[in-house]
Amino acid sequence: MRGIAVFVSGGGSNCENIIRYFSRSDKARVRLVVSSRADAFALVRAERLGVPHVVLTRESLADEQNTMSLLRQYSIDFIALAGFLLMVPKYLSDAFKGNIVNIHPALLPKYGGRGMYGRHVHEAVKANGERETGITIHHVSEVCDGGAIVFQASVCLADADTPETIALKVHQLEMEHYPRVIESLLE
Ligand code: GRF
Repeated sequence: MRGIAVFVSGGGSNCENIIRYFSRSDKARVRLVVSSRADAFALVRAERLGVPHVVLTRESLADEQNTMSLLRQYSIDFIALAGFLLMVPKYLSDAFKGNIVNIHPALLPKYGGRGMYGRHVHEAVKANGERETGITIHHVSEVCDGGAIVFQASVCLADADTPETIALKVHQLEMEHYPRVIESLLE
């Protein structure tokens, strides 16, 4: 049984979806939720679902020994970032090479990089009059939103779409695909 850690900073809808999906799996379980913020609602979700959770600030994440021993303690061998707003330190992306992925709410390489998160992404997509947007699941490297792409799914946009409706369409794709793509990478 593989052990997944989900790294979060916010609401945690993807985190909850991943926890629920793998609670029915014979391949993997989410064994730990790591949040960069103590007030992330994702922690409430983890608590309700009975998944151990910890807060790692930027400073504690930078402490390699501390973080690696925490991940060993929970037998983590795969990391899924789901709305995690800190840069992943190099020691961590190196240690989990091939086993650490992120989901980005747009079709990378468009609308990626620093500052491109949450509603900023959907506002930029709208402002540029894009006819489609989507999700990108990619390996995590030292470059923000720069690791090799594993999977993309797209959705059409209409003139009437607003950043809010774009966010909803993207969210649907996230719910549909992220756990399944993680599962395929575990094999
Ligand atoms: C998602 O849109 C994800 O693509 C991005 O951050 C958002 C997290 O949402 N990386 P939630 O916290 O899972 O609700």
